[in-house]
Amino acid sequence: MISNKKKIAITGVAGFIGSNLASRLLAEGYEVLGIDNLAYGLRENVPDGVRFHLKDIRNKEIYPLFQGVDTVFHFAAKNCIADCQADPVETAEINVSGTVNVFEASRRAGVRKVVYAESSALYEGSSIYPTPESDVKPESFYAVSKLASMYFAEAYQRFFGSKPSPHSSPLTPHGLSFTALRYFCVYGPVQDYRRTIPPVMSAFIIKLLKGERPTIYGTGEKKRDFVYVDDVNDFHLICIRDDRTTGKTFNIGSGINYSVLEILDKISRILGVNPDPMHKDDLPGEAQVTLADITQAKSLGWEPKTTLETGLERAIDYIRQEMAVGRIP
Ligand SMILES: NC(=O)c1ccc[n+]([C@@H]2O[C@H](COP(=O)([O-])OP(=O)(O)OC[C@H]3O[C@@H](n4cnc5c(N)ncnc54)[C@H](O)[C@@H]3O)[C@@H](O)[C@H]2O)c1
Repeated sequence: MISNKKKIAITGVAGFIGSNLASRLLAEGYEVLGIDNLAYGLRENVPDGVRFHLKDIRNKEIYPLFQGVDTVFHFAAKNCIADCQADPVETAEINVSGTVNVFEASRRAGVRKVVYAESSALYEGSSIYPTPESDVKPESFYAVSKLASMYFAEAYQRFFGSKPSPHSSPLTPHGLSFTALRYFCVYGPVQDYRRTIPPVMSAFIIKLLKGERPTIYGTGEKKRDFVYVDDVNDFHLICIRDDRTTGKTFNIGSGINYSVLEILDKISRILGVNPDPMHKDDLPGEAQVTLADITQAKSLGWEPKTTLETGLERAIDYIRQEMAVGRIP
C-alpha cells in the first residue's frame, strides 16, 4: 500500500481493461477517477470506490475533472475492428479527436503522464514475428486511428513535456509525458462480449456454455498472442512508478501465440465438450498472425505470469457467473 494517495484518472473505466485496472489501483491504495460515456461499457463494471463521471471524451466538459490528477490511463475508444471499418468517421472522432481532447485536458490540468492504448493492430502489415515496436504498418481504419493518436501523443510531449521548448508558452503547465501501450489480445474477466464481433475467447466460451455451435471466421489458422489482464495491470503499475517508461512505447503481449482452433480446443477441454464449429468468411482488416516481441517491457522487470489454462479458467468462471445472473441472454 502507498501512503501518499496519488489520483489516477481512467477513461473507458466501464470497459474491460479500464474496470480491471480501477480495481487493481483501488487495491493498491490509489484514488481513482473514472470517465466513460457507456457507449460500450457498463456502469456495473465500475468498481465501488471509483469517482465515476458519465462523460464523453470528445467533450470539453472533461477538462475540470483532470485537476490534481497525477497519471491518466486513456482507454476509451471505438475498438471493434468491424465497427471501425463500418464507420471511419466516428472512428476518427472518438479515437483521434477524443484522444487529443484527453491530452489537452491533461496538459491544461498539469497532469504528469498520459498512458494511452495503442494496439497490435499497428502491425497488421508486418511479417516480422515476433514483431518489435519499430515495425509499424497499420492497414485498418482502427489501426490508422491509433497511429494518429501516437503522433499527437508525441507532439504533446514535444511541446508540453518536461523540457520547455522554444515553441512552448511560458503560461502553460509543463511536464506532460506519455507512455504508449500496444496491447495484443488482452483477455480475462469483464471482457466485452457485446461487440458486433466479440473477442474470440468470450465468443467461444459463451456459445459452448450455452450448448451452441461456435463461429470461426476463416480457417481457424489465424494466430493470436493472448495476454491475461492481471499481467497487463502489472505493467500499468510500472508505468506509474518507473520513469524509464516515459516517452516510450511498449508491446504488451505474452510472446506466445495460439491459433483460433487451438483456443477452441483448450476451452472445449476445460468445459469437457466436443464442439462442432460453423465457419464463416474471414473478417476484413484483421492480421493473420500476431506475436509480440516483449523484450522492451521485460527489460523493466515485467513478465507475464498467467498461463493460458489458468487465464481461461478464470474467464470461464466470470462468464458462468454473468450467465447465472442473467446478464448474458
Ligand atoms: N482488449 C484488447 O485486447 C485490446 C487490444 C488492443 C488495444 N486495446 C485498446 O485498449 C483500450 C481498452 O480496450 P477494452 O478492451 O477495455 O475496450 P472496451 O470496449 O471494453 O472499453 C472501452 C470503453 O470506452 C468507452 N468509450 C467509448 N467511446 C467513448 C467516448 N466517446 N467517451 C467516453 N467513453 C467512451 C466505452 O463505453 C467502453 O466502456 C482501447 O483503446 C482499445 O482500443 C484493447
